[in-house]
Amino acid sequence: MKIYSAPLQGFTEAVWRNIHSRIFGGIDAYFTPFIRYEHNEIRSKDIRDVERKNNTVQYLVPQIIAATPQEMHPLIALLENEGYTEIDINMGCSFPLQARKKHGAGILPHPAMVAELLSALNDYPSMRFSVKMRLGWADKAEWRALLPILNDTPLTHITMHPRLGCEQYRQPADVEEFAAFAAECRHPLVYNGDILTLHDIEQCEARFPTLHGIMIGRGLLANPALGLEYKQGKALSAKELCDRTQAMHDAMYQAMAPRLQGNTQLLGKLKPYWEYLLPDMEKRYRKAIVKSNTVEKYMQAVNNALANY
Ligand SMILES: Cc1cc2nc3c(=O)[nH]c(=O)nc-3n(C[C@H](O)[C@H](O)[C@H](O)COP(=O)(O)O)c2cc1C
Repeated sequence: MKIYSAPLQGFTEAVWRNIHSRIFGGIDAYFTPFIRYEHNEIRSKDIRDVERKNNTVQYLVPQIIAATPQEMHPLIALLENEGYTEIDINMGCSFPLQARKKHGAGILPHPAMVAELLSALNDYPSMRFSVKMRLGWADKAEWRALLPILNDTPLTHITMHPRLGCEQYRQPADVEEFAAFAAECRHPLVYNGDILTLHDIEQCEARFPTLHGIMIGRGLLANPALGLEYKQGKALSAKELCDRTQAMHDAMYQAMAPRLQGNTQLLGKLKPYWEYLLPDMEKRYRKAIVKSNTVEKYMQAVNNALANY
């Protein structure tokens, strides 16, 4: 079974991906956070994130978000130009700003729009496409109207995150509804949602033995060794996890420091990782990291937290 790294805006950009693959690995493909076409342009920040020269992971799949073929074409053209041969289409994003524009999970209640978007993929015979989606926006039956369209579209795989867009993350992932989807889906299928431990991966594989893969998001931020642990069939020791986490953190700091100015920008970028990283760390160490207001204090708090893990 493949292990994929999920796209997480603000977290799994090129710096994280490049360093994660070097220090932890165990991931068969990294999926980029979505890029979008808005106000007649693609943001330069998004372009930088997918440019080949900024990416060193072995297998990278860029993700796009669009409601119409018109919005989609410039994105595919950019990626084709960069030499990509595989693209993931986001039909799962639940951010209200995107969903309101019928982007991401906002498109799921509109099968005709999905059909129009997917039929435009025929314009790119040499590109391979996958879809990442939720069960629906407001109703868990929405996928039933979409699956015949998806089944008729040549896709490498579908990644299903079995929640509704409107519930964001409030409800647990619905594994029973995933099973119903799996029974009717004719494409290779990837499970995504709430995978946090090696045991979770093994349980999911046991329940769905024909799965093509599992995609992991927040669980990989929390334990960057998850993919590696699955490949090795055993969890890392606390010491090994700590040493590699320290190496990854320090490499991210080195990569980001020259680009981000001052305490505010650098801390604003690094601190959020600690909302997820090593969830069983003692509270007081995490608190010291989150409260630090200079880079010096932050680095001291991180070193202290890892030394005492
Ligand atoms: C902060 C954040 C940013 C996300 N950005 C994206 C994104 O750009 N594209 C996407 O398809 N999903 C995005 N997601 C959803 C995740 O890829 C994933 O589907 C979701 O977190 C469930 O998987 P997990 O429980 O393994 O994290 C994002 C989720 C979070 C929490």
